[in-house]
Amino acid sequence: MQQDYLEITGLTVSFDGFVAVDGVDLSVLPGDLRFLIGPNGAGKTTLIDAVSGLVPATGSVRYGGHELTGRKVHRIARLGVGRTFQTATVFEELTVLQNLDIAAGHRRGPLTLLRRRKGVPEEVEQVLETIGLTELVDAPAGVLAHGQKQWLEIGMVLVQDARLLMLDEPVAGMSAEEKEETGRLLRRIGADRTVVVVEHDMDFMRSFADSVTVLHAGKVLAEGSVGEVQADPRVQEVYLGPGRPLAGRGRDGARGGFLVLSMTDVEVGYGRTSVIHGVTVEVPADAVVAVMGHNGAGKTTLLRAAVGLLPARSGRVLLDGEDVTGIPPHQRVRRGLAYVPQGQQSFGQLTTLENLQVVADTRPHGKGLLDEALDLFPALKDLLARRAGLLSGGQRQQLAIARALITQPRMLILDEPTEGIQPSVVAEIEEAIRALARRGGLSVLLVEQHVGFALDAANHYYVLTSGRVTAEGRGGADSVTDVRSAMAI
Ligand SMILES: Nc1ncnc2c1ncn2[C@@H]1O[C@H](COP(=O)(O)OP(=O)(O)OP(=O)(O)O)[C@@H](O)[C@H]1O
Ligand SMILES: [Mg+2]
Repeated sequence: MQQDYLEITGLTVSFDGFVAVDGVDLSVLPGDLRFLIGPNGAGKTTLIDAVSGLVPATGSVRYGGHELTGRKVHRIARLGVGRTFQTATVFEELTVLQNLDIAAGHRRGPLTLLRRRKGVPEEVEQVLETIGLTELVDAPAGVLAHGQKQWLEIGMVLVQDARLLMLDEPVAGMSAEEKEETGRLLRRIGADRTVVVVEHDMDFMRSFADSVTVLHAGKVLAEGSVGEVQADPRVQEVYLGPGRPLAGRGRDGARGGFLVLSMTDVEVGYGRTSVIHGVTVEVPADAVVAVMGHNGAGKTTLLRAAVGLLPARSGRVLLDGEDVTGIPPHQRVRRGLAYVPQGQQSFGQLTTLENLQVVADTRPHGKGLLDEALDLFPALKDLLARRAGLLSGGQRQQLAIARALITQPRMLILDEPTEGIQPSVVAEIEEAIRALARRGGLSVLLVEQHVGFALDAANHYYVLTSGRVTAEGRGGADSVTDVRSAMAI
């Protein structure tokens, strides 16, 4: 047990000459909840990949008295090393129990797996308890809330008896309550295990980290307590940004102006279930409007109805004053609507530049628009020749927003634009959105979990609760309390 800690020395990973992890030394003891932070593309995910054997690396990774480098993925897993991925990877059509069973599979013979199960084995029962999904054991994973899926994924690592857990952005896209719950879960499992958490959510880090390592350009830039790392000017420069407190500017509201998008009494759902019940949302010209609410409140469904991916069962959707309720998505796009769904979608086989060019080529003055988009996301300039499929999570998200901007939309619809993006770039995106809206010609409708960001960027907000608008008002920091109390119901 004494050797039950992680010790990495001189770890290096290169991809065709590009060094993504560059001589990293890192030690983590059990009971020390370690956060690993750093800019998009710093090498955090690659480091986890290297420890878990998914990419070849040089240097040394020792855990529990074993050298891990050079071993196969399943052998490393058998030595008690588990990890989760930046995007959840549960089997949606299988139940919670079946997901856990499959994960635990290697510890049982194939015969036991095939045999019809009677009752739930002790170790699975315990894990269900730990991740708080006991009640949902027979529910298909697909119907779980976003947070619950992440917990299931953690459970899938736990049933493998992992003693070293590496979690890649576990709270991305979670509501405040789910984050809190996850923090407590990490505390519980971290008490006697070695846990490394990659996160961009700084509030979450402040609440739950025991210690922090900052990675930058593949190297360890700083290490210490939360306080030490936050106070480090180098960390502020490359990662945190200038730390702008909520400005409290108060918005003029931009209401009463011409409406670019208006959804009136809209009812939307899947199959027989209704998710959105008579919602009215208005986006005036040159305004930024934010929709907030818990996971499962129907935010993404509402956006899908705005885009036309889901038909409105009743109510009307107007774009630039024209009724588009029955009009398919591509025709709405032609009328100036752009949509960036949650989860960083681009053409993985094309390079970053090609992904941008595909869009720019369809526009007059496309080259100028492309350059402008790159100025908004300067980190992409170094990545132009890289295939989009190889970009880090945050890099891909920036590319997706840049692509949307090149289409010069009148109405830009963003689903959780800050998810997976480093704090200083979150601030830049907010600035960019506001600058574009101020310049005129662009309205934005965004869905966000990040209440501070959303209110600071928005002229107007709506809070959605169980498919209904339960609060709305002016953007700006003054509204934070109102929004939080509306969401607490
Ligand atoms: N197979 C690959 N070939 C070339 N470059 C790669 C490959 N995989 C990753 N990279 C590059 O390595 C760098 C590190 O990526 P990584 O995914 O580890 O970043 P990260 O720190 O996890 O970032 P984020 O916070 O955005 O998730 C990035 O610049 C990425 O584009
Ligand atoms: Mg990553």
